[in-house]
Amino acid sequence: MDQRKEKMHIGAFFKNTGHHIAAWRSPDSQPDAGINLKHYVACAQTAERAGFDFLFYADSAATREAHIDSLHRSSQYTAYFEPTTLLASLATATERIGLVATQTTSYNEPYNIARRFASLDHLSAGRAGWNVVTSGNDAEALNFGRDEHYEHDERYLRAQEFVEVVKGLWDSWDDDAFLYDRAGGRFFDPQKMHRLNHVGKYFKVRGPLNVPRPPQGHPVIFQAGISEAGRELAAATAEGVFSGELTIERSQAHYSDIKKRMAKYDRAPDELRILPGLTIFCGKTAAEARDRERELAELIHPVVGREYVGTLLGLDLSDCDVDDKLPDRESKTRSKAGIANSVKAMAERENLTIRGIYMKLAGSHGKLTLRGTPVEIADTMAQWFHAHACDGFIMQPSTMPGNLDEIAETLVPELQNRGLIRVGYEGATLRDHMELKRPRSRWA
Ligand SMILES: Cc1cc2nc3c(=O)[nH]c(=O)nc-3n(C[C@H](O)[C@H](O)[C@H](O)COP(=O)(O)O)c2cc1C
Repeated sequence: MDQRKEKMHIGAFFKNTGHHIAAWRSPDSQPDAGINLKHYVACAQTAERAGFDFLFYADSAATREAHIDSLHRSSQYTAYFEPTTLLASLATATERIGLVATQTTSYNEPYNIARRFASLDHLSAGRAGWNVVTSGNDAEALNFGRDEHYEHDERYLRAQEFVEVVKGLWDSWDDDAFLYDRAGGRFFDPQKMHRLNHVGKYFKVRGPLNVPRPPQGHPVIFQAGISEAGRELAAATAEGVFSGELTIERSQAHYSDIKKRMAKYDRAPDELRILPGLTIFCGKTAAEARDRERELAELIHPVVGREYVGTLLGLDLSDCDVDDKLPDRESKTRSKAGIANSVKAMAERENLTIRGIYMKLAGSHGKLTLRGTPVEIADTMAQWFHAHACDGFIMQPSTMPGNLDEIAETLVPELQNRGLIRVGYEGATLRDHMELKRPRSRWA
């Protein structure tokens, strides 16, 4: 396939102590990271020095749904900052790096989200991005007046209308609506204020938003759906997609599928960047990289490991021995079907027990993992990029700050030396970093 001339895009997926399930037990992490602002400031500044397009902070509006035996041994989703509040704080400690946060469409109202991200875009001078999710954690329903989570397709129908309303609200004011004309006594130009007057199936929103049009026009929209409905939403609205394919072939298929769907929405393929999640274990030699991965995996408590695999696949494995193979059970959660198929295929291919699966995947939450020297890892990243399996990667440090520092100090210079990624920043906004156009207002 043709070599592409343009550069890859890389983001840094921040997770309190790191993405590895046992990260908090490692000396390379900060155990109270979830509520430690100094830790996040240091990590954000590391990522900015390395020139990452953005940092991304995921979310779930509930603790993980797990038995307390497992939950109390894990740092995941039990003690961490609400994303937009944290990013507002990081906006003042950084100058260039993009700031992307998840907010769910299932348990928010569009006006709140439009307002929050418009504010974050102003606070950061054009560096905000919103990862649109419909909520992967069923437990969120229980915190929002419901007994169970919305049905999968309905979640996505709601999300589609939600995003349209949010974009409409961001266009409430023309870019030059605010005059601040003291002498003439005109604060804004009334011709440049627009009420949305939206009445749909799920939302009724008059507008206008009480925040001026964001510096980027619209903050950058991200999405990470794997299902048919998720892919369709991504093709219709997303400008960044986080994906989770484990092989180059599957990633190529996902890549071309999403890009092809975009035509239906009158969008060009280049209006969207697809970034698979990537964890790396690196060392001066491949053997050193493997040892470091094993050392971290050995910190996984078997109860946590088994529960991790169960949650990943949407299966109850509490009656299973970790040294047995995966039982032949259907996933309870439809949204897990895609990842479940991927993982089951891998377990069969490599003859893995439940312990074998968690030892292999917990470091990356079922996403792509590369092991080796920075040169070897950069080789594979380049291969994926040139084969149109992705437009770049969202790096998932196994430990924070340890592995993030390592990525910044060893892998990033290797990618820069090859001309695969930018050196430093050329523009000021997240759209500049991701080479995305600023959207025109619907009223322009
Ligand atoms: C890199 C990545 C980040 C994600 N971040 C979140 C998140 O912060 N919150 C969430 O509820 N789901 C998150 N998801 C899950 C997706 O939004 C989506 O629900 C999942 O991939 C299943 O796809 P589906 O919803 O189309 O069935 C993430 C997925 C990926 C691959």
